[in-house]
Amino acid sequence: MRAWVTGGTGFVGSNVVAELLAAGVAVHGTIHRTPPTEAACTWSAVDLADAPAVRSDVAEAAPDVVVHCAIRNDLVSLSTDRRGAWADFVDATRNVVDAANASGAQVILVSTDWVFDGTQGPADETEPPRPINSYGLLKFAQERVVAERAHRGAIARVSGVNGRHRACGSLPRAQDVGFGYLVTALVEALRARQPFTVWVAQDINMVATPSLASESARMILRIAQLGATGVFHCCGGQAVTRRGLAGLACEVFDLDEELLRFGPPDPDALPAEMVPYDTSLDARATAAALGVELPDARRLLSLLRAQWSPAPTGGTP
Ligand SMILES: NC(=O)c1ccc[n+]([C@@H]2O[C@H](COP(=O)([O-])OP(=O)(O)OC[C@H]3O[C@@H](n4cnc5c(N)ncnc54)[C@H](OP(=O)(O)O)[C@@H]3O)[C@@H](O)[C@H]2O)c1
Repeated sequence: MRAWVTGGTGFVGSNVVAELLAAGVAVHGTIHRTPPTEAACTWSAVDLADAPAVRSDVAEAAPDVVVHCAIRNDLVSLSTDRRGAWADFVDATRNVVDAANASGAQVILVSTDWVFDGTQGPADETEPPRPINSYGLLKFAQERVVAERAHRGAIARVSGVNGRHRACGSLPRAQDVGFGYLVTALVEALRARQPFTVWVAQDINMVATPSLASESARMILRIAQLGATGVFHCCGGQAVTRRGLAGLACEVFDLDEELLRFGPPDPDALPAEMVPYDTSLDARATAAALGVELPDARRLLSLLRAQWSPAPTGGTP
């Protein structure tokens, strides 16, 4: 199998690349700004806004599957630079889908639980999205491009992603108003014997179904291997609160829970836009379709701890 991957130098994308390579897939990745480190791939600098360039790069790679992981990971600019954000999210996705169609490739879009408004409870794959901020809206628009335009399209929603960045030593952000990166930030602080405040507030993402990047990437690989189409929830099998996840992380990583604090976020960290409160996902239909077991939160953290060894003192996984 051959794959053409965008965003393969990023957090989720580097896990996708690593799992594809581990399964013997030949990977061609696109470069944006960060130089790639994975020598087992071929790479080219392609501007995803340039439709003919995308089409010719995909045609040359002749992939069976295109995995679109790239994202402008700067939530503030999504509302302040609306035209640029639309181009980066929606126009680029259209170019990627059209190129995949022209080459007869399946296309898999990595999406998010933030397409939901946070009031829907555990959302299964059929739940209609209702985004409440620019990021959710743009991801939903990307999803519609894939759903309506791709000849063979799949939407792989990941949520609250924790894990190792497989292309560089650090994650894009520390604790934020979502669930991603929370465990890493907490473990680093507590291993350094520093107190860590787990954010608790009504206007941030307080309940979610965490994912482990490597496991989500394996589910994406499985979608590719099966040539599956439709919506998939590529996450863990258990919804948790921030407080619950923090407590479990202390147990699994043997950390001193006494160092945990619970309090409001730094006001500077709060975005101007609304954040969905409960984005928990129900992924049982995905698990059945892909023939995989969903790790509960404890198992997910145990896998993360195993990936982290030998344990750094304060370093990033
Ligand atoms: N992390 C999470 O918790 C989480 C949760 C839900 C969904 N997701 C989804 O996962 C996907 C990847 O997110 P991530 O956390 O891995 O982000 P990330 O670490 O910031 O990686 C983003 C990747 O996209 C590339 N990129 C940025 N702007 C680009 C552009 N204009 N054209 C081409 N490539 C561009 C980046 O390259 P450069 O570094 O060179 O700019 C990088 O390779 C996204 O679809 C996101 O919606 C993530």
